[in-house]
Amino acid sequence: MPRSEPIKAVRGVRDLLPRDRPLWRATERAAAEVAMRFGYQEIVTPIIEHVELIERVGEDTDAVSKELYRFEDRGGRKLALRPEATAGVVRAYFEGGLNQGPQPLRLYLVGPMFRYDRPQKGRYRQFYQLDVEAIGSASPALDAEVIEIAAGWLHESGISALALQLNSIGDDVCRPAYLERLKDYYRPLKGRLHADSQLRLERNPLRLLDSKFAQDQPFKVDAPRITDHLCEPCADAWAHVRRLIDAAGIEYVHNPYLVRGLDYYTRTVFEFYPAGASGQQDALAAGGRYDGLAEAEGWPSTPAVGFAGGFDRVVDVMAASGVEVIAAAAADVVVLADGGQEIAAAEVARICRRVRSVAVDYEAKSLAAKMRSANKLGARWVVMLSAEEAPRRVARLRDMASGEQAEVSWDEVPERLA
Ligand code: HAM
Repeated sequence: MPRSEPIKAVRGVRDLLPRDRPLWRATERAAAEVAMRFGYQEIVTPIIEHVELIERVGEDTDAVSKELYRFEDRGGRKLALRPEATAGVVRAYFEGGLNQGPQPLRLYLVGPMFRYDRPQKGRYRQFYQLDVEAIGSASPALDAEVIEIAAGWLHESGISALALQLNSIGDDVCRPAYLERLKDYYRPLKGRLHADSQLRLERNPLRLLDSKFAQDQPFKVDAPRITDHLCEPCADAWAHVRRLIDAAGIEYVHNPYLVRGLDYYTRTVFEFYPAGASGQQDALAAGGRYDGLAEAEGWPSTPAVGFAGGFDRVVDVMAASGVEVIAAAAADVVVLADGGQEIAAAEVARICRRVRSVAVDYEAKSLAAKMRSANKLGARWVVMLSAEEAPRRVARLRDMASGEQAEVSWDEVPERLA
């Protein structure tokens, strides 16, 4: 690359600029508030994990098999950038001894995740999730609880038109027999399925149900439904979860084809879409129960349920549906210093910062140009300092809205700004 070529951001990742942040901050704040209102505590786990930990999520999972950012560190360790948070949160739960106190442990995490996917709108290689996990209880009440948190977060972010899809995919007791039925159903149709689906038929037949290939669609209607083949405990849990969601006043549809892209799920699975949309790509939040993951990671078997929501997509929907957040000005007050008045300007700014946010314009520009910049920054007041005034410790304070201007001693400025 010639030296003159500026170096741009990596494909599929993006900057969140100051103008983008107000909407993000609003939904981040909503996330933390809703999670805390339900008694969830914040956890932060590393962005890098051992590849093996991530692989336990399931090797048939796209996020693991095709999209994982893997690398070797200088010590030859095989590491990965986390594609999701659940595997790391479960690891931290045991490593941090959180399994020893009262259960379940209610945790939330906000942070970046990485997937080497084809970049497109709503799909980035570095994206941000709210991750919510209740670990250490098999109660279906927690399935309903995390669904209520997801709905509450999206509502508080200003997205009220939501479609919730719900399904149960059974457990180790009932799923194997169901998968045999599913394979029996699909085997005679094999030649008519998409080539990728033909491969899935023996390896991961559940994924035939959420195939997006047009030629596979006609066969889904008559495929056996797992909710008709649940063992008694799974069927009880399925009924219980739906009763609780009804009682919470949350509408949902049963989507018998919803199986989710990660391999670790058992029983409840769910996805939230903006009303009117569909397709995996548009899910705003998604999750389910994963009673087998702790054991797959090598820890004692421990039931758990949770979800993750994508901030990138939530912010897109907020923007598209006209959610407005009043952006705070970069600074309430701008101090304009004449050349050579830097020390005085910095002192006046320090005094004003007791009550307001303050920026100083140190640039060598005309007063008129500085006033225009202050206006663009959204400043409510401007403080002007000249070589003649500074030694007397006075300045001119201008109210940008009314245009009124007065000479004020430095120590009186905070009162005027209150
Ligand atoms: P997931 O369905 O893979 O689940 O991702 C959850 C959400 O993250 C998606 O609904 C979407 O909003 C967002 N998301 C995923 N990939 C991208 C991307 N490339 N760009 C932008 N947003 C994206 C999980 O990650 C599970 N760990 C959820 C979970 C938690 N299950 C139990 N606990």
